[in-house]
Amino acid sequence: MNQRRIRVALLGATGSIGRSTLDVIKAHSDRFELVGITANSNSSQLAEIATQFGVRTAILTASNGRELVDRSRFPKNCEVLFGQDAVEHLASSPDVDIVVSAIVGAAGLRGSLAAVGAGKRLAIANKETMVIAGATVRKLAQKTGAELLPVDSEHSAIFQAIKSGREKEVCRVILTASGGPFRDFPKEQMDQITPAMALKHPTWKMGPKITVDSATMMNKALEIIEARWLFDLKAGQIEAVIHPQSIIHSLVEFCDGSVIAQLSPPDMKLPIQYALSYPERLDGTSPRLDLTTRMSLELIPPDIEKFPAIPLGLEVAERGGSSGVVVNAANEVAVDAFLNGKLSFSQIVPACRAMLDHHEFISEPTYEEITSLDDWAREETIKWMHLCC
Ligand SMILES: NC(=O)c1ccc[n+]([C@@H]2O[C@H](COP(=O)([O-])OP(=O)(O)OC[C@H]3O[C@@H](n4cnc5c(N)ncnc54)[C@H](OP(=O)(O)O)[C@@H]3O)[C@@H](O)[C@H]2O)c1
Repeated sequence: MNQRRIRVALLGATGSIGRSTLDVIKAHSDRFELVGITANSNSSQLAEIATQFGVRTAILTASNGRELVDRSRFPKNCEVLFGQDAVEHLASSPDVDIVVSAIVGAAGLRGSLAAVGAGKRLAIANKETMVIAGATVRKLAQKTGAELLPVDSEHSAIFQAIKSGREKEVCRVILTASGGPFRDFPKEQMDQITPAMALKHPTWKMGPKITVDSATMMNKALEIIEARWLFDLKAGQIEAVIHPQSIIHSLVEFCDGSVIAQLSPPDMKLPIQYALSYPERLDGTSPRLDLTTRMSLELIPPDIEKFPAIPLGLEVAERGGSSGVVVNAANEVAVDAFLNGKLSFSQIVPACRAMLDHHEFISEPTYEEITSLDDWAREETIKWMHLCC
């Protein structure tokens, strides 16, 4: 008897993770069916995907979405919808089995929460979901039975390695980081880094925001916070180490001293596919490691004076509550300002630090408190930038 295909909704279909997810779905079209897609403003790419995959629902979230759409470019039987309410509706639809959360930034939260609230499997690329609302997402998933599957390569590696022992036997997890383009760049010249320099990542091809996050190492800070919530760890159990080759995606150390790692070439298709097919492993579409040729794999302690994002991430993971909300919002505003030539590279992390230190901490923020703190931090970061620049 034919197995029913798994119905996938892809939030952020036009981005870097979105495109890799489409490759996985195409390679395993006998197993997965793309039923819904979203983009912010890229209407033409959304229409191409809808046509290629025969998608039933396509959504644009930008406030001027209706003006951007040329309806004639979408298939006739594809419903074209607008706004965040439509995303929530898609993510919680009974016609969807798995939601891939691949929108960038805090804008991904509503879709993720809707999927978890409806008890779906959520494949989480949007790490900001866990940074902002990790405790809420965990609690909600326990209530609805939703499954949280990591897509970030580091968290996918931990997810795979951690199964080698029992929860209470996990001693620590070690997240690897490529170190970005400025690992060996002189600290005193960090002020001169331009957007073009920061957007050249040595090992990964990603969207602009996460590429800048990798360069400041805020990406590792966000991943430390994400790991704290995804795996219910204490901050003291999480470490970050520089691994320039991006082959070892992370490691888990158990109480007996065994360290289990997951290795593969840097390609997001593998962790995406695993999140879609888990617990099954399907044939890989990514390049494989050639272990017959000589290679070196380095692990180097991070320079935390040059990259203060790492201790900042550990502090947020320790404090929990509303800390992640304000740090994430400050980072989004600061990265955007940097990319638009309005803030220097070396001020991005201090902007996040300032918001962490100045906000009124809430230990268990509600959804409404999360959104109002996010608004507050965005406004305050803009004020902070005016004062400091
Ligand atoms: N790229 C990677 O290799 C990678 C690896 C691990 C984790 N992640 C995480 O995955 C997420 C996506 O990253 P990415 O690199 O794929 O980003 P990206 O290439 O910039 O794509 C972002 C996607 O989100 C949509 N989007 C942007 N702003 C939006 C908004 N305000 N509301 C709704 N949708 C919006 C974009 O639509 P438009 O095209 O219309 O703008 C696009 O579909 C991030 O959280 C990132 O940290 C990425």
